[in-house]
Amino acid sequence: MRIDILTVVPELLASPLNESIIKRACDKGLAEIMVHNIRDWAEEKHRQVDDYPFGGEAGMVLKPEPVFRCIEELKGQRPYDEVIYTSPDGEVYNQQHANRLSTLENIIILCGHYKGLDHRIREHLITREISIGDYVLTGGELAAAVIADSIIRIIPGAIGDEASALTDSFQDGLLAPPVYTRPAEFNGWRVPDVLLSGNFAEIEKWRESQALARTRELRPDLLEE
Ligand code: ADE
Repeated sequence: MRIDILTVVPELLASPLNESIIKRACDKGLAEIMVHNIRDWAEEKHRQVDDYPFGGEAGMVLKPEPVFRCIEELKGQRPYDEVIYTSPDGEVYNQQHANRLSTLENIIILCGHYKGLDHRIREHLITREISIGDYVLTGGELAAAVIADSIIRIIPGAIGDEASALTDSFQDGLLAPPVYTRPAEFNGWRVPDVLLSGNFAEIEKWRESQALARTRELRPDLLEE
């Protein structure tokens, strides 16, 4: 899949999407992330992308022209399934959204901007507004990185051991069970015996009961859903 991210601060996206699993998925050709600087579509001499809001509020608002030019150019090159805007006003993002987005071919993510963007962009270009939680960030770039990361890691082949993406917390509506590695005893604390038993049916039963118990204790709201 291809993800085009539009921002006025491309530097913020360079490192989170250029390391580890996401980088390897891109290197393998499973995903392509293109980060675009909206300023490159600003025509004015000073490459100005924002301006004072009508009505005299404080803060700067992203101008419509460079965003329309950029998105229309991209749409002329390939069809897009979604044009997402990252904003605290949006639908609160969860694993089901990530699962659905990971099945799409091409998406655009427009990063939110200080005081917001000209409402005509939201009315005429954006197909979905996403918030990554009920708190306010300085801009939508980190939210875009979170969304891109969560989508790409579940594309088949992105994680070496494919089963491990499916056993994540939330993938079946439950938190993941605890995991342990060597040594079997550390500081006098032993790994649960069942994990050392070699009895895979028992291990699976233990994992399921732990997932349920942890969800009941830490996130009972998930069970209500
Ligand atoms: N921009 C600022 N805050 C945000 C949030 N919580 N989610 C998505 N985009 C944002």
